[in-house]
Amino acid sequence: MRQTFSNAVFLLCATASALQIPFLESLNPQNAVTTKKPLVSSEAIQADISSKALLKRAKELFKIAELGIDEYNHPTRVIGSKGHLATLDYIYSTLASLGDYYTITNQTFPAVVGNTFEYRLVLGDASPNSTQAMSLTPPTTDKEPVFGPLVLVANDGCAASDYPSNTTGAIALIQRGTCPFGTKSENAGKAGALAAVVYNTADGSLSGTLGTPSPHHVATFGISKADAAPYIAALKNGTIIESSAYIDAIVESIGTTNIIAQTTAGDASNCVMLGGHSDSVAEGPGINDDGSGSLTLLEIATQLTKYEVRNCVRFAWWAGEEEGLLGSDYYVSQLSAAENKKIRLFMDYDMLASPNYAYQVYNATNALNPVGSEELRDLYVDWYKKEGLNYTFIAFDGRSDYDGFIRHGIPGGGIATGAEGVKTRKEAEMFGGREGEWFDPCYHQLCDGVSNCDLEAWEVNARLVAHSVATYAVSFEGFPERRVGVEAGRVAETPLYHGSKLVM
Ligand SMILES: *[C@@H]1O[C@H](CO)[C@@H](O)[C@H](O)[C@H]1NC(C)=O
Ligand SMILES: *[C@@H]1O[C@H](CO)[C@@H](O)[C@H](O)[C@H]1NC(C)=O
Ligand SMILES: *[C@@H]1O[C@H](CO)[C@@H](O)[C@H](O)[C@H]1NC(C)=O
Ligand SMILES: *[C@@H]1O[C@H](CO)[C@@H](O)[C@H](O)[C@H]1NC(C)=O
Ligand SMILES: *[C@@H]1O[C@H](CO)[C@@H](O)[C@H](O)[C@H]1NC(C)=O
Ligand SMILES: *[C@@H]1O[C@H](CO)[C@@H](O)[C@H](O)[C@H]1NC(C)=O
Ligand SMILES: [Zn+2]
Repeated sequence: MRQTFSNAVFLLCATASALQIPFLESLNPQNAVTTKKPLVSSEAIQADISSKALLKRAKELFKIAELGIDEYNHPTRVIGSKGHLATLDYIYSTLASLGDYYTITNQTFPAVVGNTFEYRLVLGDASPNSTQAMSLTPPTTDKEPVFGPLVLVANDGCAASDYPSNTTGAIALIQRGTCPFGTKSENAGKAGALAAVVYNTADGSLSGTLGTPSPHHVATFGISKADAAPYIAALKNGTIIESSAYIDAIVESIGTTNIIAQTTAGDASNCVMLGGHSDSVAEGPGINDDGSGSLTLLEIATQLTKYEVRNCVRFAWWAGEEEGLLGSDYYVSQLSAAENKKIRLFMDYDMLASPNYAYQVYNATNALNPVGSEELRDLYVDWYKKEGLNYTFIAFDGRSDYDGFIRHGIPGGGIATGAEGVKTRKEAEMFGGREGEWFDPCYHQLCDGVSNCDLEAWEVNARLVAHSVATYAVSFEGFPERRVGVEAGRVAETPLYHGSKLVM
């Protein structure tokens, strides 16, 4: 009935407009007069945010993560899993249901996923208890234990000449520093090593990633400085340390997808862009990391459709963030110079609801980052101040999807509520919560479910995200023009991180 009726009206409209007879206005004035939407305002769209709507979405996302149980025995939304594929469907179908307000694009790109099932390292007659397998490590040959003497590599193992000739058939022991773990592993492989062990120079165990796979990578471990010390002393003394290494792991290439939604309205040469990541780690459902960010974006994308925008608003849901910012890196690498310049700034929203939260603002400055980053930082600061809330600055060090943007001259910044950092006494005074504990005790773990999200912090930050969108959707007045080339602003030295994992 309804369907037939609306088809009939459509036909009537078509006829009327073709004949230019404006009789429909009197027939049905409400339909015929194009109702102009109000221009978006910070106050209005902030008022549209409710923790109830966010919680509802979080519960839906957890159900989606449960589809990962098939393969992983627990909920996960890691790229390649059913949980991630269903997350993409959920985001896409929610956006598609909003009609023609957005132009939606799937950007599929190649990604690598690694899974380590088992590993063991025996040096002499002991297993260093700090032993970890690096992420994206290949397995040992035939996924079987390999045997050889431990050989000490000179310097930091960043040059081929650091590897003594008897590295062939041996297990290379390499100091951390100067170059990425991936380079050390590659050099060890080229020198004929059966496996590589990188030892830390800072305190604690060493967990990192080899990054982009290379055919020369060998099975690679990290151990602590304390565990390495007696072996180094013995090797320097000419002692032969017969050892064995074993890693059962896979590294495979898959396709995964970024979803981009841009308002059809607004000045397309001046876009405010924001993103969160659609994927989680393999270990858990990732409802705070980064369900909280990606669902906030989805909710705001939905609420924004009530309004008019003057500048284009472009939302992104990145894939492969947890494997090393793969999706956002790929996206930025594919922008032509002209397209790059249309992005006035990029706002990163990764983890907005940590249970032991702090209100953290990336300390993005114009001295070190593309000009405009500091103006964005100050937008967040001003808002927290106006709300009477405390905030802290945190390092803008390459740990999330803003990294590719600032490296390509696009101003960036964002907010977060904390991951595996430990809350100080001062921060406990400022934000409440538990001193001496992680901001998110379930970070990258199975327990990052719905109840891991602090709804109060989430709603506060979702309102701030709404404020950031509304502000720039209306005007870039006072915000620096985009610059290109060297003028864009410096980008700090190669950071230790690229994503959540250490790379060197
Ligand atoms: C884009 O990807 C989503 C998620 O996988 C899918 O549901 C949708 O059909 C895709 N759309 C197009 C046009 O390819
Ligand atoms: C590793 O062993 C050392 C002693 O050899 C011990 O002090 C340390 O607590 C152990 N660490 C872990 C994580 O078991
Ligand atoms: C170094 O060698 C000497 C003699 O071979 C031996 O007594 C000593 O224990 C060795 N030291 C280490 C740290 O292995
Ligand atoms: C490898 O060669 C170095 C000298 O370059 C030597 O000190 C070391 O003992 C040798 N290691 C083994 C296991 O033969
Ligand atoms: C923020 O970064 C600037 C360098 O750009 C530095 O001088 C300042 O100390 C940093 N502030 C905090 C609180 O980390
Ligand atoms: C802000 O932090 C101070 C301590 O530095 C604390 O006394 C105050 O209550 C905090 N304000 C809020 C809104 O939490
Ligand atoms: Zn994250």
